Amino acid sequence: MLELVDLDGGYDDTIVLRDINLFVPPSSVVALLGPNGAGKTTLLRMASGLLTPRRGQVFLEDDDITGLRPNQRMKMGICHIPEGRGIFPSLSVRENLIMHSLKGEEKDAIERAAEVFPILGERLSQQAGTLSGGQQQMLAIIRAYIQNPKVVLVDEASLGLAPVIVDGIFEFLGELAKKGVALLIVEQYVARALALADKVYLLNHGRITFEGEPSELEDEAVFASYMGGEVGSH
Ligand SMILES: Nc1ncnc2c1ncn2[C@@H]1O[C@H](COP(=O)(O)OP(=O)(O)O)[C@@H](O)[C@H]1O
Ligand SMILES: [Mg+2]
Repeated sequence: MLELVDLDGGYDDTIVLRDINLFVPPSSVVALLGPNGAGKTTLLRMASGLLTPRRGQVFLEDDDITGLRPNQRMKMGICHIPEGRGIFPSLSVRENLIMHSLKGEEKDAIERAAEVFPILGERLSQQAGTLSGGQQQMLAIIRAYIQNPKVVLVDEASLGLAPVIVDGIFEFLGELAKKGVALLIVEQYVARALALADKVYLLNHGRITFEGEPSELEDEAVFASYMGGEVGSH
């Protein structure tokens, strides 16, 4: 579905990612894990078009999309839920939903958002920045449903949220996966990510150091060794 091939890239003079080969098969959940600063966010930005790779290619199904801009990739079915939520705090919930809807589908999108997260439907006129953290994340992540994407990139969706809200976020991701949407998820809750994933990649210092089945990482010592000992056993 989504494939990164021999990709290098970073920011200005800094190369962050090297020799990245990563494949998200159709209807599958892939977890991308690694310590802080490993390059996970940078990798998702390359996939969604916010950054252009220095070398290598990005494919969506059979199309080479390396040269396409983020909004073109969005129309083709890539949905990126960025780190830090990426909502418009000064706009209302309704306006945020409209911003993240495809043209002509705004009304339908608002109705569907309210079905999945009723609290958003009750607060359509409220300024998004005044929602609770959990509600803001619901507003951020609902675009993964209302855009009807083929593949969703999720960057640390559970960061800073109460456990009960995290449950809701993972339930939502699980429902998307059941519908056949491919997911590439970056997560600090390693155990939850592994429980949902069909396949896992570990990223360390900008390189893929492990690719395999979640069950291969069940042993905490094995996991820690792949993570360079930089992440604990959670
Ligand atoms: N906008 C930026 N400009 C320059 N360097 C950056 C920028 N964003 C991130 N980096 C650097 O790229 C590396 C990878 O960062 P990032 O992709 O955010 O890692 P992760 O998401 O795994 O924590 C880090 O060394 C970070 O300092
Ligand atoms: Mg990050």
